[in-house]
Amino acid sequence: MEVIILPSSKDIGALAADSIEALVRNKPNAVIGLATGSSPLPIYDELARRHTEEGLSFAQVSGFALDEYVGLPEGHYESYREVIRREFTNRVDVAAENVHGPNGSSQDVEAACQAYEDAIVAAGGIDLQILGVGTNGHIGFNEPGSSLASRTRIKTLAEQTRQDNARFFDSIAQVPHHVVTQGLGTIMDARHLVLVASGAGKADAVRAFVEGPVSASCPASILQFHRRATVIIDEAAASKLAGAATYRHAYDNKPVWQGI
Ligand code: GLP
Repeated sequence: MEVIILPSSKDIGALAADSIEALVRNKPNAVIGLATGSSPLPIYDELARRHTEEGLSFAQVSGFALDEYVGLPEGHYESYREVIRREFTNRVDVAAENVHGPNGSSQDVEAACQAYEDAIVAAGGIDLQILGVGTNGHIGFNEPGSSLASRTRIKTLAEQTRQDNARFFDSIAQVPHHVVTQGLGTIMDARHLVLVASGAGKADAVRAFVEGPVSASCPASILQFHRRATVIIDEAAASKLAGAATYRHAYDNKPVWQGI
């Protein structure tokens, strides 16, 4: 796992965007795993800027969302399908039919989750998966206790996650209790994981998943088993890492040609 500590979320967005740009220029029909939450927004802003100002094209790219709420009416402003459309895909030239999300309102949730897994495989698998991390160490909506081998399925949100996400709704009562999410096994199948986090509120979660034991109690710790996981965080999110100086030293001395 590579840990990169940068001064600001703008820098984090730019570095993650560099990696996505390199991927897309090398493989125009790349498959990108799209995350919601506030952490990835600087990435989407930067990619949208490069599209508008520098002609970076996503015309052949496919996108797969990480997760979705269950029970929000179609088109709900906070449904992740809408968030991803608004924050990213509508701002670039990704074809609408190439943007996929798990179906949180299917009558047959299990079949819908399997269909989602099948669609990822049919697209050739995810080349680069963007991730954030919850304050309790969740990735996607894989809450503590999630099987480290899990696939896309329905989950019940931890109360802490409902509270954390209440800021996007008028009140906590409106935050759904259920979600569908790519599993930890699904996420681990992506060829490159890029997790971004910023702010002191993430410092405990970052310390736990980067330097703690690999455990279902801290789902993001599964990244320690991935052969290509990049964690890009700001100073505040890195503030509790025992090895911060080592990570900084490694990155400062990294040959530029290696990228991330
Ligand atoms: C939600 C999403 C996660 C995201 C997390 C953190 O729970 N399902 O994918 O990583 O929020 O969000 P934020 O980046 O806003 O802190």
